[in-house]
Amino acid sequence: MSLISIGLLVGLGIVTGVHAQAVAPVYGQCGGTGWTGATTCATGSGCVVTNQYYSQCLPGAAVPTTTSTTPTTTTSRPATTTVPTSTASAPGSTPTSKGGKLSHVGINISGFDFGCNSDGSCNASGAWPPLLQYYGHDGQGQMTHFVNDDGFNTFRLPVGWQFLTEDAATGVLNMTNFAEYNALVNACLGTGAFCIVDVHNYARFNGQIIGQGGPTNAVFSQLWGNIAAQFASNSKIIFGVMNEPHDVPDINLWAASVQAAVTAIRKAGATSQIILLPGNNWTSAETFVSNGSGPALLTVTNPDGSVTGLVFDVHKYLDSDNSGTHPECVTNNIESSWEPLAQWLRSNNRQAFNTETGGGNTASCVEFLCQQIAYQAQNSDVFLGYVGWAAGNFDPSYVLSEVPTNTGSTWTDTLLVQSCLAPSSGSQSGSTGQ
Ligand SMILES: *[C@@H]1O[C@H](CO)[C@@H](O)[C@H](O)[C@H]1NC(C)=O
Ligand SMILES: *[C@@H]1O[C@H](CO)[C@@H](O)[C@H](O)[C@H]1NC(C)=O
Ligand SMILES: *[C@@H]1O[C@H](CO)[C@@H](O)[C@H](O)[C@H]1NC(C)=O
Ligand SMILES: *[C@@H]1O[C@H](CO)[C@@H](O)[C@H](O)[C@H]1NC(C)=O
Ligand SMILES: *[C@@H]1O[C@H](CO)[C@@H](O)[C@H](O)[C@H]1NC(C)=O
Repeated sequence: MSLISIGLLVGLGIVTGVHAQAVAPVYGQCGGTGWTGATTCATGSGCVVTNQYYSQCLPGAAVPTTTSTTPTTTTSRPATTTVPTSTASAPGSTPTSKGGKLSHVGINISGFDFGCNSDGSCNASGAWPPLLQYYGHDGQGQMTHFVNDDGFNTFRLPVGWQFLTEDAATGVLNMTNFAEYNALVNACLGTGAFCIVDVHNYARFNGQIIGQGGPTNAVFSQLWGNIAAQFASNSKIIFGVMNEPHDVPDINLWAASVQAAVTAIRKAGATSQIILLPGNNWTSAETFVSNGSGPALLTVTNPDGSVTGLVFDVHKYLDSDNSGTHPECVTNNIESSWEPLAQWLRSNNRQAFNTETGGGNTASCVEFLCQQIAYQAQNSDVFLGYVGWAAGNFDPSYVLSEVPTNTGSTWTDTLLVQSCLAPSSGSQSGSTGQ
């Protein structure tokens, strides 16, 4: 039993024994292949089949009329027989729902960011384009598969600032290098997906913080103006101002740097696309508000004073220290992060996009990530979607690998992509996926 489950049960005042839970908490798992825990949901919620691996207690879902099987039954996925899918998706069956489908669901296609360290020291020659023509993995094939077979519609394409400028601390693009990166962007666009241009520098250039001792806001805005000019007319481009700022001493000065980038992007002619605004502390969703990032970034506007298209960028992993380095997951982040963030976003009439999340290809990560995604989908009025980390040039043995394997013309997804991340898994709607 996870700590979060215990907390939810205590909060609901439900007394449990030392053995299996009698009642699964709201948002808790209640069925799926191999599940031996509770199959009855807390009052006010019902057990809804997400897919063969996972069923979840959702508020307002019809309570099953069939008596649940014993928790220790060896019969697989008991919940799949207790709640018809049609019940779960019937109109009005989830009265507390404030959303529906997420508008953006994607995968990171990494490689151009290789050689970047979290102090913003990147090495242009460390970049490894995830494209066959540059001796990388078949990023184009991966994206085509993810769109056609799994239903994804967004890819995040990280790139080091140093690669774009061939190691110069300027905002002037090296067009030889840019053309290589643009080949990946075009491969992404060719699938019909949205493509996030993500500058993967942790608010820094070679250890120096942008606008706070490092490159000036003028240099940073020149970089973004030049990038945006290349994509100004393409509505499928999303601008990711910066990956994971952290240990930035002055959040208000950081907001001014973000403002400089936004202004440059809009003035370059990219007037309508989404721009992602990143906070401090590795863009942690959990501390976005408490750490001061949310309040500071609320002040960032378009040149016309509106905030149209300005979306907060938040990351969250599900392992014990939120680092995304462990194979096992321990939390769905709902109570700690997503619920409070949803309330704050709603009260400020704003939205956020979870552009990094993921876990190992393990049962615990299937359990918790499916819960997180279902919650995000229920709150899709404030959450645009999520992007999994990561496919592209990673070795399939990488702990968080979402790299599909290709044999002949067949692509096979990792467990976590099949079970939760792929829209075709049904993880967003609670319907049965394939
Ligand atoms: C950059 O990477 C190349 C190849 O990996 C290496 O030879 C070179 O020393 C690196 N340069 C710096 C400054 O780290
Ligand atoms: C751009 O980068 C390439 C390496 O990819 C280098 O050979 C070339 O000299 C650079 N061009 C300029 C104008 O700096
Ligand atoms: C926010 O997090 C940073 C570390 O990323 C820390 O230095 C700063 O003190 C925190 N600010 C607040 C208000 O918690
Ligand atoms: C950063 O976020 C993590 C959770 O994502 C939290 O545990 C930690 O305390 C935060 N650090 C700061 C300095 O806010
Ligand atoms: C996306 O790619 C970047 C760069 O390779 C990586 O640092 C990050 O962890 C990835 N995020 C996810 C969610 O896969």
